Amino acid sequence: MDITILGIESSCDDTSAAVLRGTTLLSNVIASQAVHVKYGGVIPELASRAHQQNIIPVVDTALKDARVSIDKIDAIAFTRGPGLLGSLLVGTSFAKGLAIANKIPLVEVNHLQGHILSHFVDLPDRELPHPEFPFLCLLVSGGHTQIVKVNSPLEMEIIGSTIDDAAGEAFDKCAKVMGLPYPGGPVIDRLAKEGNPKAFTFAKPHVKGEFDYSFSGLKTSFLYTLRDAVKEDADFVEKNKADLCASLQSTIIDILLDKLIKATKLLGIKDVAIAGGVSANSGLREAVAEAGRRRGWRTFIPELKFTTDNAAMIAISGYYRYKQGMISDLGISPVARLEEIL
Ligand code: KG4
Ligand code: ZN
Repeated sequence: MDITILGIESSCDDTSAAVLRGTTLLSNVIASQAVHVKYGGVIPELASRAHQQNIIPVVDTALKDARVSIDKIDAIAFTRGPGLLGSLLVGTSFAKGLAIANKIPLVEVNHLQGHILSHFVDLPDRELPHPEFPFLCLLVSGGHTQIVKVNSPLEMEIIGSTIDDAAGEAFDKCAKVMGLPYPGGPVIDRLAKEGNPKAFTFAKPHVKGEFDYSFSGLKTSFLYTLRDAVKEDADFVEKNKADLCASLQSTIIDILLDKLIKATKLLGIKDVAIAGGVSANSGLREAVAEAGRRRGWRTFIPELKFTTDNAAMIAISGYYRYKQGMISDLGISPVARLEEIL
C-alpha cells in the first residue's frame, strides 16, 4: 500500500491542508485570508488568528474530500519555516497535537523546498510532467527569489538569491504605490495584458553575484517615475496604469530571465522549472516557455493551483522525507528564517 501523507501549510496568509497517496493528490484545501486586503499587506497578528479559526475545518475538509480517516495517515507533514512565526506556530502546534493524539509520525518541511517539489505531485486522473535531476528551478515568491540547483528531492543548492527585495515584493510594493489592492502581483498581471511593455523604462540592477538578484533599485526607479509624473499631471497613474503595469512586469521578467539563462549555460542544465507565487504570472510563464523553445530546454511550468501557497507541496516534500526515515522530534518548534533550517 502506498504511503498516505497529510500536509499542513500555514506559513503566511493561506491555511491549507492536503492528502497525498504515493505522489497522487487526493485533496488540497486552501482557505485564503481576506482580512489583510483592507490593510494593503499581511498583518501577522491577524494572520495567526485567522489560521487558528481555519485550521480545524481545513484539515477536516481535506480528510473528508480525500475519503481518508486520520487512522489511515502514515505521517503528518507541516511547514516548519520560513514564514511568519505566529502563523507557523499555529500549523506546527496543530500538527504536533494531531500527531501525539493519533500516534502518527511528524515530518517537518521547508516551505521553499515545498514550492520546488510541487513539480512532483500527480493528479488522480493524470500524471503531471516531472523534471529530471539535476534541474534548475527559479523560485519566485512573495518573500524569496532564488535560482536553485535541485540534485534530488532532498538535496538542493541555492546558487543565486536576491540581495534585497523578492520579485513578489517588487510586484506588491509597486502595486501599492499605484493604489492597487493587495496582493498586487495578480492585479498587475491582469492590467499588463492591456498595456505596452515598452512605454516606460525602469532601472535594471547590476549585481555583483553572478546569479544574484536585486529588486529594490527597480522599486525606487518606479517610485521616482511616478512621483515626477504626478507633479505634472495628477491623473498620470490612472491614465497610464496598463502601460505602467506592462512595463514593470516586463522589466521584472527580463531581470529574472537574464540570470536564469546564464545559470543554465554555466551549469549545462536543460531541465528548467519555475515555482512560487510569482510563477503564476502569465508574462513570466510565456517568457520561460519561449526561452526554453529557443534554447532547447524542457520547461516545467506548474499548474496555477500549485504556484501560490498550498499544502499539496508540503505533503509531497513530507512524502520524500518520510520515505528516507526523516521523522521530526515532537519537541520541534518553527523557524521564521530560512538559513536556520537548510
Ligand atoms: O508563494 P506565495 O504564495 O507566498 C510566499 O511564499 O511568499 O507568493 C506570493 C506572491 C505575492 O507577492 C503575489 O503578489 C505573487 O506571489 N503573485 C503574483 C501572481 N500571483 C501571485 N505575482 C505576479 N503575477 C501573478 N499572477
Ligand atoms: Zn510560498
